[in-house]
Amino acid sequence: MAVADFGIAIMAAGKGTRLKSRRPKVLHEIGGRALLLHVIAAAKTLVKADQVYCIIGHEAERVREAVAATGVGFVLQAEQRGTGHALQQVKAHFVAAGATPPEHLMVLSGDVPLIRPETLANLRDAHLREHAAMTILTAVPSDPTGYGRVLRVAPGQAGVAAIVEQKDLAPEQRDEPEINSGIYCFETAKLFANLDRLSDANANGEFYLTDVASLLVAAGERVIATVAENLDEVLGANTIAEMMHLDAAMRLLAARRLMAAGVTIFRPETCVIDAHVEVGADTVLEPYVQLLGNTRVGVDCRIRSYSVVQDSVLGDSVLLRHGCILDSSTVGDGARLGPYAHLRPQSEIGTAAHIGNFVETKKVRMGRGSKANHLSYLGDAVIGAGVNIGAGVITCNYDGVHKHTTTIGDGVFVGSDSTLVAPLTLGAGSYVAAGSCITQDVESGALAVGRSRQTTKPGWVAARKAKATPTQTPSSSS
Ligand code: UD1
Ligand code: CA
Repeated sequence: MAVADFGIAIMAAGKGTRLKSRRPKVLHEIGGRALLLHVIAAAKTLVKADQVYCIIGHEAERVREAVAATGVGFVLQAEQRGTGHALQQVKAHFVAAGATPPEHLMVLSGDVPLIRPETLANLRDAHLREHAAMTILTAVPSDPTGYGRVLRVAPGQAGVAAIVEQKDLAPEQRDEPEINSGIYCFETAKLFANLDRLSDANANGEFYLTDVASLLVAAGERVIATVAENLDEVLGANTIAEMMHLDAAMRLLAARRLMAAGVTIFRPETCVIDAHVEVGADTVLEPYVQLLGNTRVGVDCRIRSYSVVQDSVLGDSVLLRHGCILDSSTVGDGARLGPYAHLRPQSEIGTAAHIGNFVETKKVRMGRGSKANHLSYLGDAVIGAGVNIGAGVITCNYDGVHKHTTTIGDGVFVGSDSTLVAPLTLGAGSYVAAGSCITQDVESGALAVGRSRQTTKPGWVAARKAKATPTQTPSSSS
């Protein structure tokens, strides 16, 4: 079907009173992203960003800032007097700009975040095919309480007579099963012609966009409804509990998408996987794994329980043992981490490298096959290939004012419990004796010992004991 001239308005100006939160509703997150960003992403699959108009009002600047990078346009609804009033501002925006509005306007709700692009495309196509003035996306949930209800002209008919809000339902209408999703397509001219005719004489004292349906019907226009295939995608998030339901649904969808692509996820309901995470086939995720943000995991990896990976890239055949925490880092093919490794931002762990128990890294480049297996802190370091970092080694990277770099050449052996005071360079193939405090560069192939020499005093213990025992004298005995 030829795509007609379409714009999309997203209603996002409301406060979200029912959340009892200081954060604007549309900036609450599910699946690791603000509600509004999910809706904008769906909108941008149908039209260009500059054809998307976000209606903002409550905490407008905060909302604008949070989504500015998407490139969408904004319409201000300074006072929030209802969804009809929100669309009145869109009309005023075009009038003020002297601009011709798009021929059709799709309207989305900023708090209905699971909506899929396919569903929006189907709605658009039905709207154009049926030459409707208004097309409403609906659903029939097991409990319709709280939603506006769509009343058909007659059962089984496409035509709609009216939408009635929950609070305005007559007693005999309370069981009406078909809900309004808050997602619509309009012929823009017919929408705009009726917006000024809305009244706020209703239970909420607001101008309802939903009343446009009966106004259009009264004017002899065609108003139809199509039922969404999938119930979850039209559910709204008015309370934290509803939002967490949608969050779980979205993450389960992400898990299912990965499983369909060959990823094994044990107990997927325990895993927290953000909507846009990518994982390769034959990777295994154990229970209680979290993969967050822009994380990408290669094929054939195993991520053991309680690991949390944020904005990081893992190559192929990587093993994360239990309880690893990774933030904004990269891990090369075949590397093995943990248990309880902590990669802070800008850690680049090379191919087949090992980062073991209670090792913390930050802004580190670690070469191929290098190992730091136990109890270390490695920060601001460039570490070559085939390096062995012994247990308890610490880079002293901070002098209280500045951070300094430690450079460790290929094949270096750093003995356990050494402290490397940066700035410092250990030349390729050098050795650092265990327990050293190294403050000066070490040339290639050299051994550096930075500790006081051991002295051993044979028989010292017995001698001390003898000295410590008081001598028995007649005057001191009783
Ligand atoms: C609305 C519909 C209801 C539908 C439900 C689906 C109306 C009158 N009712 O009810 O039929 O079943 O959505 O989820 O439209 N907003 C503004 N400006 C305002 C008021 C709201 O931009 O002045 C925005 C909100 O930020 C929100 C959306 O519009 O994103 C819907 O508003 P909300 O108050 O949540 O409407 P519901 O009561 O859920
Ligand atoms: Ca709502």
